[in-house]
Amino acid sequence: MTPGVPSNGRAAEPLFRLRGVRFSYAGRNVALDGIDLDVKAGERLVLLGANGSGKSTLLKLLDGIIGPSEGEMTALGHEVAAVAAGEDAFRFHREVGLVFQDPDIQLFSATVMDDVAFGPLQLGLPAVEVKERVDEALAAMEITDLANRAPFELSGGEKKRAAIASVLSLRPDVVLLDEPTASLDPRTKWVLVDLIVRMGLAGRTLITATHELDIVPIIADRVVVLGEDRRVMADGKPDEILDDRDLLVRANLIHEHLHEHGGIRHSHPHPCGEHHDGDPDDGEPVAAGAGEASMSAGGDGRRP
Ligand SMILES: Nc1ncnc2c1ncn2[C@@H]1O[C@H](COP(=O)(O)OP(=O)(O)O)[C@@H](O)[C@H]1O
Ligand SMILES: [Mg+2]
Repeated sequence: MTPGVPSNGRAAEPLFRLRGVRFSYAGRNVALDGIDLDVKAGERLVLLGANGSGKSTLLKLLDGIIGPSEGEMTALGHEVAAVAAGEDAFRFHREVGLVFQDPDIQLFSATVMDDVAFGPLQLGLPAVEVKERVDEALAAMEITDLANRAPFELSGGEKKRAAIASVLSLRPDVVLLDEPTASLDPRTKWVLVDLIVRMGLAGRTLITATHELDIVPIIADRVVVLGEDRRVMADGKPDEILDDRDLLVRANLIHEHLHEHGGIRHSHPHPCGEHHDGDPDDGEPVAAGAGEASMSAGGDGRRP
């Protein structure tokens, strides 16, 4: 039985269970400082946090690449510390796949097809099934025509899709995505968001780390905010979290931008990392500023 899937009418065990989880790199740099978190099967969770808040570290723990320095953590019924030490790691990684932020880490073969086939070949599957899985993963990411390209011949967005396909070919129940839309142009970004939505519709558990607020309502039904103190600051529905401007400022996901219009000083929020054109006296609308347009749920403004 897959952990987390209800049977005999019993309440589902969480797929991931973390209690007081701390992680420090080299025993010194604290990256996570006491995380309590349950994730259920089929959830579409976003880990929202500013740079350095511990998102990538948490994804590596969820993927069993590293074990907690302190605290208790299980994933799909396995002790994560044991998985990180190599115990049952092979079986575990058939169920849970991590798409790294940098696709160059994931793509190391001569062609996209070889990269996507790598996992299934490692599983020792028969050639027919390897081909079936490769075709399925390439089709899901809409890159069938790129199968024979070398990774260095791909654009940034195509590389991301190839990296995701290389994880999907293992047919994992859980897909972890680290900043999947970072550094993509807007059109490429929304194509990728649509593909992520479809992965979720296929019934997978999706956990996506991002600091891009505009994609959150599309890809998540739950949001966990990591604060700069590297703890969980909030956990709720996308609308609740995105409407809480004070929370977003405290989490350094938007910043109050001070500037002047006609001699009157005021502030309004901006998504962090977004440029503000032409201030201090740019004559743009006051108060309900640029930040909100990309934060609120609903509307078609975010689609190209
Ligand atoms: N390999 C590493 N060695 C030492 N410190 C690290 C390493 N990776 C991340 N950190 C530190 O851990 C903290 C959390 O980083 P990270 O998980 O990468 O955050 P995020 O993904 O949210 O940007 C940061 O302070 C970062 O500098
Ligand atoms: Mg990161």
